[in-house]
Amino acid sequence: MRLVQSLMHTPAEAIDARRTRAAEALAMDGAILLVGAGSPIPVPGGMDQVHAFAPHPHYQWLAGHRSPGGVIAYDPTDGVWHDFVPPVTTDDAVWEGRTTSFGEPLDGLTPWLESRRGKAIAALGVPFDGVTADTDLSSLLEPRLLAARRPKDEHELEIMQQACHATRHGFDAARRVIARQTITERAIEIELNAACLRAGGHGIGYHTIVGAGTNAAILHFSAGDRVVEDGSFVLIDAGCHINGYTADVSRTFIKGTPTQQHRDLYAVVLEAEQFSLERCTPGQEFRELHLETAVKLAEGLVHLGILKGNPAGLVERDAHANFFPHGLGHLVGLGVRDASGYVPGRERSDRFGLAFLRMDLPLEAGMVTTVEPGLYFIGPLLAQPDRRERFADCTNWDEVERWLHIGGVRIEDNVLVTESTPENLTADIDKSFDRMIVA
Ligand code: GLY
Repeated sequence: MRLVQSLMHTPAEAIDARRTRAAEALAMDGAILLVGAGSPIPVPGGMDQVHAFAPHPHYQWLAGHRSPGGVIAYDPTDGVWHDFVPPVTTDDAVWEGRTTSFGEPLDGLTPWLESRRGKAIAALGVPFDGVTADTDLSSLLEPRLLAARRPKDEHELEIMQQACHATRHGFDAARRVIARQTITERAIEIELNAACLRAGGHGIGYHTIVGAGTNAAILHFSAGDRVVEDGSFVLIDAGCHINGYTADVSRTFIKGTPTQQHRDLYAVVLEAEQFSLERCTPGQEFRELHLETAVKLAEGLVHLGILKGNPAGLVERDAHANFFPHGLGHLVGLGVRDASGYVPGRERSDRFGLAFLRMDLPLEAGMVTTVEPGLYFIGPLLAQPDRRERFADCTNWDEVERWLHIGGVRIEDNVLVTESTPENLTADIDKSFDRMIVA
């Protein structure tokens, strides 16, 4: 726990290096930059409560702390970065016990702006009132700052490793409770989350997904009161965060005795995941990797008798996407989709097999990406008459019927791209088929 606490304080050298990297990437040429943290959002209805606050990741990355209402200001002419934060009030001290703040008093922002009157303002992060930003300039600079943030520095990687470690404790706890004679999805979620927090997690990085049986096919399923039946998959997608840096891991367990269908489907997804994980190297275009992994999945579906034809041709037609309707992955770090996206000039495709690809960029050393192939039998999707007709020549719909009860499998790791072999930060969370059987 002590280690986790120390990780909350970003070293000054790390912040200086980030700001230098940002200044070079932004190449602002006479304009000035403001980056807003955002403010807590009140719970409606006069509750005296706010939703859990998370600053805009651009802000946290540049400031090194998570102060609500903070503003980073930068003028390349003098090269000085300012870190303006609201003053601590008596109310803060009385209600929250907060007596100190980071940075300079926010009052300083107005004179700082006054003395730069006439300069174009790029406003990134969370917008705030009272400033007229140049929206074209802001849009131009946004992808530049995203690009600067993508490779993680040592401090960030250390926190992410801690978050992955705490998340492993969550999955270990899940394994233990799935073994209970009677266990609901919700009870698994509770135990997983609690174990993550006990192991040092500051919070849960995103809504924990636990789906048993056919619920495993619902991509962002919210755990309910379904009791996990013997002979069913339990798909869990979860990660805790430390100081905002989250892990994002998926594992699919089998409760009780697996069938051949469990084994076969799992083997296809595991092989595809290993295939994609090994290819997370500098210069690898993520879109290409998504499509190559889709071909591996299509090969598996052909082998299982679900699809018919040439796997590459099936992917070109999006026939595989009826069973893999999401992207291969996204960057992860300061939030669950940290600095993902498309490089300027690339557009999201409206093809079913590509529309949910969260990023289209070449991988670089220092990036942490998820790889998360999956195969699902999503009843309402596969029942659509027009879909059945369109893919009638290449899909064995009778065979599909035999799989509808099984739900789905997703396997997801967090991979650090390095100059040499990719480093799997979540490698110690078991995923071999035999380890996923919980009897
Ligand atoms: N792990 C959930 C998601 O990436 O959507």
